[in-house]
Amino acid sequence: MKGHKENSRMVAKTLYGLEEILAGELAGLGARDIKMMNRSVEFHGDKRLMYEANLWCRTATRILKPICDFKIADENELYRKVLNVDWGNYLDVNQTFAIDAVISDSVFNNSLYVAQKTKDAIADHFRKRIGRRPSVNLDNPDIRINIYIYHDECTLALDSSGEPLFKRGYRKRTGKAPVNEVLAAGIVLKSGWDGTCSFVDAMCGSGTIVVEAALLAHNIAPGLTRKIYGFMKWPDYDADLFRSICKKARMVIRPAHGIPIVGSDIDAKQIQEASENADHAGISKAVTFKQCDIRDLVPPPPPGVVIINPPYGERLPVHDINEAYHAIGDAFKKNFTDYDAYVFTGNLAAAKYIGLKTSRRIEMYNGPIECRLLKFEMYTGSRKSKPPSLEA
Ligand SMILES: C[S@@+](CC[C@H](N)C(=O)[O-])C[C@H]1O[C@@H](n2cnc3c(N)ncnc32)[C@H](O)[C@@H]1O
Repeated sequence: MKGHKENSRMVAKTLYGLEEILAGELAGLGARDIKMMNRSVEFHGDKRLMYEANLWCRTATRILKPICDFKIADENELYRKVLNVDWGNYLDVNQTFAIDAVISDSVFNNSLYVAQKTKDAIADHFRKRIGRRPSVNLDNPDIRINIYIYHDECTLALDSSGEPLFKRGYRKRTGKAPVNEVLAAGIVLKSGWDGTCSFVDAMCGSGTIVVEAALLAHNIAPGLTRKIYGFMKWPDYDADLFRSICKKARMVIRPAHGIPIVGSDIDAKQIQEASENADHAGISKAVTFKQCDIRDLVPPPPPGVVIINPPYGERLPVHDINEAYHAIGDAFKKNFTDYDAYVFTGNLAAAKYIGLKTSRRIEMYNGPIECRLLKFEMYTGSRKSKPPSLEA
């Protein structure tokens, strides 16, 4: 792309609480000058790194490439400054575009208005120069432009990912209340599971957490199943370079190593969906699925890690959901000795009914819902905490 140095500043977006893991992933790819921020990580690198970050970062939701920063006092200045960017470098008049606007503590209070103003300025830029303007396509644009305004500071960036990176391409069906793929990968990485001991998700739903665990264990780049990235529509797209990066990623896949990875769920339909998703992700041979109540599950031998994402219970009577969480604690005690057990939940009141002492409580979010990833160490003679009475 004209005017772009090879050592470009980039920003990887992520979910709250995953910044440090993402910074580690980027460092592993050779990123320089890494700076952790709120829900994002800034770094520097070249085009190869940008392609690799899109393909390999399990915990990034987007990789943005800033094109300019400026200060704005009001909407007129925003319009003028966006109008003056040399948009012909980034966007052809025959391509479609869309604007994602994010504002934080800014002079504006409506991100849709900011997106509209930015869109008008870009359209007018082309109209003034060549008498025609590119069209907007909100659903499937060729070029996505991100505008971020913090106080009076504005950054315009190109979105090299296009669709968010949690859309890996393997999940055709999404079950009842799935976590997205980036959150699932983040939960597995937060647990510290490194693929060398048993792994179980005993409430696996559509299988997102087990699929992400299997991709990790086999060193499979999470983006390998995805066909489209935003950078493919950029004028400087280097298809040979991206092809060679994908080829190398296929060569470093680790073969099956006999470590059990198990997904189970009480609902047969969920197990069917999870198996199909695992199949699409190309890891069906690495994962065993069973239809089973967590209370009856006989897990593979310890040591191991069990992670569950139980229903939060919005649609259930409180007594029933408390009882369900109590049963989780009983199942951990009975069946998961010498496992590290994790519960990811947005129902903190019900979580008390698990009745085991947490050894870690990690704050995370599932969309807007504040959640916790709770760790319980189920070693023999594990400490118990007295759950509240179910009769209360
Ligand atoms: C929030 S969903 C899990 C979503 C999953 N993480 C995903 O990404 O698709 C909770 C799951 O727990 C399952 N479940 C509820 N009670 C269960 C029990 N006693 N034993 C096993 N699974 C159970 C439900 O069928 C549901 O699929």
